[in-house]
Amino acid sequence: MIMGIEFQNNKFHLFNNEISYIIEVSEQSDLLHLYFGARVDAEDIHSSVGICTFGCQADDSDYSLSALPQEYPSAGAADFRSPAYEMETDKGLHTPELKYKSHEVIIGKPPLNGLPAVYVEDDSEAQTLVITAADEVHGVEVKLYYTVFEQFNVICRHSEIVNVSGSCIYLNNAQSVSLDFPAGEYEYIHLEGAWAREKHVDRNAIHKGTQGFESRRGASGHVENPFLMFFDKGAHEDFGNVYGISLVYSGNHRFLMEQEMYETVRVQAGINPFQFRFKLNRGESFVTPEAVMVYSDGGFAKMSNTFHKLYRTRLCRGTWRDKERPVLINNWEGTYFDFTKEKLLAIADAASEIGIELFVLDDGWFGKRNSDNCSLGDWYENKEKLGGTLSKLAAEMNQRGLKFGLWFEPEMVSPDSDLYREHPDWAISVPNVKPHLGRHQLILDYTRAEVRDYIVERMTEILGNANIEYVKWDMNRNMSDVYSLHLGADRQGEFYHRYILGLYDVLGRITTAFPEILFEGCSGGGGRNDSGMLYYMPQNWASDDTDATERLYIQYGGSMVYPASTVGAHVSAVPNHQTGRMNSLSMRTAVAMNGAFGYELDLSSLDKCELEEMKKQVAFYKSNRHLVMTGEYYRLLNPFTSRHSAWMYVSEDKSRALVYYVVKTARPSNEAVHLKLKGLDENARYTVNGEPKSGRTLMNYGIVIDSPEHDGDNIIFEVKRV
Ligand code: GLA
Repeated sequence: MIMGIEFQNNKFHLFNNEISYIIEVSEQSDLLHLYFGARVDAEDIHSSVGICTFGCQADDSDYSLSALPQEYPSAGAADFRSPAYEMETDKGLHTPELKYKSHEVIIGKPPLNGLPAVYVEDDSEAQTLVITAADEVHGVEVKLYYTVFEQFNVICRHSEIVNVSGSCIYLNNAQSVSLDFPAGEYEYIHLEGAWAREKHVDRNAIHKGTQGFESRRGASGHVENPFLMFFDKGAHEDFGNVYGISLVYSGNHRFLMEQEMYETVRVQAGINPFQFRFKLNRGESFVTPEAVMVYSDGGFAKMSNTFHKLYRTRLCRGTWRDKERPVLINNWEGTYFDFTKEKLLAIADAASEIGIELFVLDDGWFGKRNSDNCSLGDWYENKEKLGGTLSKLAAEMNQRGLKFGLWFEPEMVSPDSDLYREHPDWAISVPNVKPHLGRHQLILDYTRAEVRDYIVERMTEILGNANIEYVKWDMNRNMSDVYSLHLGADRQGEFYHRYILGLYDVLGRITTAFPEILFEGCSGGGGRNDSGMLYYMPQNWASDDTDATERLYIQYGGSMVYPASTVGAHVSAVPNHQTGRMNSLSMRTAVAMNGAFGYELDLSSLDKCELEEMKKQVAFYKSNRHLVMTGEYYRLLNPFTSRHSAWMYVSEDKSRALVYYVVKTARPSNEAVHLKLKGLDENARYTVNGEPKSGRTLMNYGIVIDSPEHDGDNIIFEVKRV
């Protein structure tokens, strides 16, 4: 592999063996975007989007920004498309114009101050170009960061806007990335959804005008995941130019695509400008979140595998990054709030009997919390309910061979709590306006240091006083009534972003203080299932929907960007609590095994037969989890368009694979399915559940499945090279 950043004939060329990203500094000192895609030679590339008509020029030439592709377009100058940033000075001026000033190349990849980001372990892995562009009149400098990696077909971008003027400026918009694609026919996929129905694949053609998706919820949200796949029309799993853009951010986001008169498409991703206004005093700067851009010349699968490996090894961090995740039992759907110590221990006994490794005590262990209408914020153990201390309970779990884990919802406060009674001003609300509740609760103002310190202190005490080896960090409502008593009128527009910075501060402090603890993010399931959270927590509870049929969709969509190692997935009881479905234990398990696997039901109420079956399933998962966590991932049958779903994992050396096939909706007189495998060595011989076959046959002809079917029938194929 090779990698580099060259600057010749006024062109920057960032490249590795497979990709190129090219920027030109025009004679007028504008930063023009020339190209991003499969490797090319920079000297052959020239900028043009079309013939400029009805444009605005700085002089008598034809040179007009409205007909040129740009790197970080300004607002109000000669380009009429969506700007990458907008600002105003204290005099009310809105029209900055950036001109190239200088650049430097950094070996490695510098971290982003206060924000999560992809990292390198060794400086030799990546190089970073920092271009400084300046508006000398208004005293603004923008530093554009671009990192290219040797081993990944990825460009990471973010920008930093610096006030070098004599007075203050206000930023009204600051995107992480702006890219102008040449005229063409394009499509895009985004992962849309709702609570308990996250990450559904929605595919659309790009049309003239502006389109996109966003969150205004104060969190990345269930409704729109901060991730875009933008691709040549007709691309699919194995074919086509595909660009994946993932925003490493957990707050309000916006993805915008704009096709205009020249058929070019501007694609932007960044913080949502909705109610955003950030004041920069003289000398201060604003750093945007990072956008991770993957390029694939081989369709969706290649893009996904690049994200999976990058995020698993260079976004997730800490002790648990590369470790096999413990099989867990969570008591939530088993007991909800209604538990006693005896009940928990009865579940733990059954769990340890079948080989489970971790007991997670969910909501209801603190304050007076016996329902969801009180006690958030009162992070003190309820000794009466727990029949003693948490430390004692953890020890009893440990005696049974189980690690012990605990649920928290540290960003919230219940109006019925001691914390709220003592500090009503710590909750987010607009003065003199009755705040809206969500799940009976309010959100703590994480822009305030004293609020963050309180939470860090409470959690530190609890985590330090019992043998807690896992934490589920939940967040169960979105933001309304946004206002902070702590911020002046001129800074209320900073609230949403400052909240997320506060959250990252708390997460950073706690995960650093407890490096051995495995953290799992959650927000009513997948309400904050984004790459920002993965920087602090290597796994995320993918959805509150534990129904295996629904999970086929949720996990299929999520797999576009997030690796299986990050996906919390559990077997729950039937009838399913969200849908009433009666899926078989075998199907529920086959689906839940595709991630950080666990159970979420009352194991103590199951009969011997079921527990025996589970014991075998747990053993099977343990012997395969390394492959699930680290293997290359291929989607084989799409549940959104097919009656079946199938996917597989292949070890890096292609010697082993695990293939899952599930009948989503059976039909009588069913067709034979040719399940064509992917990613194997075509010249190798394999056994498939013991039967010999060549890699070539398995990939071109497939495994033929021709038995009569029922809903939920499933087959797991173990493929081994002979
Ligand atoms: C949220 C989570 C659930 C559970 C409950 C507890 O809904 O997503 O998994 O932890 O909170 O109140």
